Amino acid sequence: MDALILHLDRALRTVAGVHRAERASPAAGVPEGALHAGARAEAAALMRVNHVGEVCAQALYQGQALTAREPDIRRSLEHAAQEEQDHLVWSAQRIEELGGRASLLNPLWYGGALALGTVAGMCGDRWSLAFLAETEHQVEEHLSGHLERLPAGDRRTRAVIRAMRDDEARHRDSALALGAAELPEPVKLGMRAVAKVMTTIAYRV
Ligand SMILES: [Fe+2]
Ligand SMILES: [Fe+2]
Repeated sequence: MDALILHLDRALRTVAGVHRAERASPAAGVPEGALHAGARAEAAALMRVNHVGEVCAQALYQGQALTAREPDIRRSLEHAAQEEQDHLVWSAQRIEELGGRASLLNPLWYGGALALGTVAGMCGDRWSLAFLAETEHQVEEHLSGHLERLPAGDRRTRAVIRAMRDDEARHRDSALALGAAELPEPVKLGMRAVAKVMTTIAYRV
């Protein structure tokens, strides 16, 4: 029951945007570039997409921690969830600095990802970790794409994205080290297709 209340509390905080980061933003100390209005809007839209990804990461990790059977796995998921919480805060801060706004559909993204995380968790730890490892891998690739798309002078956003990408790579490695299975190729392709739809919508709304 306590665990359920804790998860509910986290869910509400995620959607309301009232989390606290444990680590300072990687943008701290990086000077703001001279960005024209179009460049700021583009960077804010890209960060809105990344923020949606982090909202989903909160839900995915929570869904999986709820269903994880092994204590070691649950601990590792909780550790990664804290780092995802840092990402959530960093990306929200950067959106604000750029004068943008978070996605209006965040409650929807959260609910969908929580359902997916719970289903993955119910398939057992090996498959749940497989889903996680593949998600982290796809997010890592996606963030690399954003580093190329970002306006050239936006060093602050770049610092945030680089640090998130490093964390996602570690999350993937730890899921593999904990015994993740290898997802079938059609599942990976399906995940890419869903991610494509989500990122296209989140870029705008
Ligand atoms: Fe993340
Ligand atoms: Fe991650």
